[in-house]
Amino acid sequence: MKNIRNFCIIAHIDHGKSTLADRLLEFTSTVAEREMQDQLLDNMDLERERGITIKSHAIQMVYQYKGEEYILNLIDTPGHVDFSYEVSRSIAACEGALLIVDASQGIEAQTISNLYLAIGNDLEIIPVLNKIDLPHAMPEEVSDQIIDLIGCDREDIIHASGKEGIGVEDILNAICDRIPAPKGNPQAPLQALIFDSVFNSYRGIEVYFRIMNGTLRKGERVKFINTGKTYNADEIGVLKLNQESRDVMSAGNVGYLISGIKNAKEVKVGDTITTVENPTTEAIQGFEEVKPMVFAGIYPVETSEFEELRSSMEKLQLNDASLVWEPETSAALGFGFRCGFLGMLHMEIVQERLEREFDMTVITTVPSVQFKAFTTKDGEITVNAPSEMPEPNYIDHIEEPFIKAQIISKSEYIGPIISLCMDKRGILKSQTYLTSDRVEMNFEMPLAEIVFDFFDKLKTISRGYASLDYELIGYRESNMVKLDIMLNGEKVDALSAIVHRDKAYEWGKRLCEKLRELLPRQMFEIAIQAAIGQKIISRETVKALRKNVLAKCYGGDISRKRKLLEKQKKGKKRMRQVGNVEIPQEAFLAVLKLD
Ligand code: GTP
Repeated sequence: MKNIRNFCIIAHIDHGKSTLADRLLEFTSTVAEREMQDQLLDNMDLERERGITIKSHAIQMVYQYKGEEYILNLIDTPGHVDFSYEVSRSIAACEGALLIVDASQGIEAQTISNLYLAIGNDLEIIPVLNKIDLPHAMPEEVSDQIIDLIGCDREDIIHASGKEGIGVEDILNAICDRIPAPKGNPQAPLQALIFDSVFNSYRGIEVYFRIMNGTLRKGERVKFINTGKTYNADEIGVLKLNQESRDVMSAGNVGYLISGIKNAKEVKVGDTITTVENPTTEAIQGFEEVKPMVFAGIYPVETSEFEELRSSMEKLQLNDASLVWEPETSAALGFGFRCGFLGMLHMEIVQERLEREFDMTVITTVPSVQFKAFTTKDGEITVNAPSEMPEPNYIDHIEEPFIKAQIISKSEYIGPIISLCMDKRGILKSQTYLTSDRVEMNFEMPLAEIVFDFFDKLKTISRGYASLDYELIGYRESNMVKLDIMLNGEKVDALSAIVHRDKAYEWGKRLCEKLRELLPRQMFEIAIQAAIGQKIISRETVKALRKNVLAKCYGGDISRKRKLLEKQKKGKKRMRQVGNVEIPQEAFLAVLKLD
């Protein structure tokens, strides 16, 4: 145990975590250079494309240092606010963390909140100033930020470049020197923390764990404390480039467990593994059930594909335990599913995976947060969709989720950021200078205002120099109303939204205008109306098409005509017929892009 080092990497997206991690693996010969894929730690295609580590994994390196052999377990952490609970569990599995900061960018909000988590867990922090090869690197200034933040000495900061391979050995040595060996008693009852799981279609779910106390043996009967389920530890082992099975693993170690689990739901990140024979009485602290923050409907474009969509969702859920869903019907869209996501990024990922991995074409409806309606009739009702909103006469009051948002930016953007946040019903709580031109601002805001386009807007007004992190702080009373959209007099439930009353008129007007742009012209006129209850608050019209598009081809050659028809058909792929009006997918998400 004395020579084990368990560590994770805290870094903002794009600050070079994957590149540097690759260098560590290369230097310790964990992977031969020719085996190196571009970025080893990010497994899924999608992740690579997005450059975001969606799921954390772990890898073991062996390193010779001062004549001794060290086992270094790197536990990967996702770098996006949607996945902060996963990050917290990875951190809980480590004794140390590399804090990687891009020398040309400085510290970002996400980094700070993860860093606080790490410090709160008593992790030893090794600061690394990365990308020092960049001509516009600002090593002095960024070092000042790091020193301010963690109170280290300037000499403690390692200068590195993943790209040029600078500082790699220093980092490995610092891991051995500075990070404490794991504590824990191998003789105690087993307590192993689940920090991640991965679905494997042949072997079932692979559970990744860190043993805090006790010893785990192959073949032993184990129990997951929070779910209460028991399994056979069919195979255990360590995670190298390939898995290496072991017969016994004890306190301090990181590894995987295979026990024929088929459904990701049974494996909860943060749960504790113990043995049936000699169980611990104490679960590891910090376990939480994952809570979806954003809800939206997912519908097949072709109504006949509902069953296929269901089976795709079931498969998807096998390896994405954070995704929750239940069947839902919409008058406009027919049969589909109401899904809960960790955040907007998670929602986009699910939609993309359905399309890529399962070849489904789906329509996603306006995302909504979870409101609470307090009614005079049925007491408190949870509202995940506009359609679940009770009749206005029964509503006593409505509460919505609020967050604490932490934004870090340059001082020149303070003005625009504050006005953006106020426009989103935010209240400025504090403003602190991290350095002479870097400011941290804290706001309290409704979650509903930031799930839409807030982050994009923030990036735009700050020219990319702003980062955002947020956490839920509870529910507060708000004057929310349901806004309905009607097309030719017919209510399209999938276009309804729950909005703040002060914004409803503006919202209704802009939404009608946007829909006018997005709805294709048809052979007849389309009236677009926004209404609160019975009251129409806005109206726009899509004029009828005057000419038949095919008329152009009259007398022309048939293949051109066919091409034109096919083109139209393709364009139709993501359209839904509601009453006699065709609605393209963009229209269902029009509210996300109102200006
Ligand atoms: P996520 O996986 O999205 O969290 O990103 P990451 O932090 O893992 O960053 P990644 O290693 O993918 O690098 C991001 C970008 O920075 C890539 O375009 C890299 O080529 C580049 N990059 C990484 N390290 C260095 C470095 O030391 N110097 C320079 N100049 N560029 C680097």
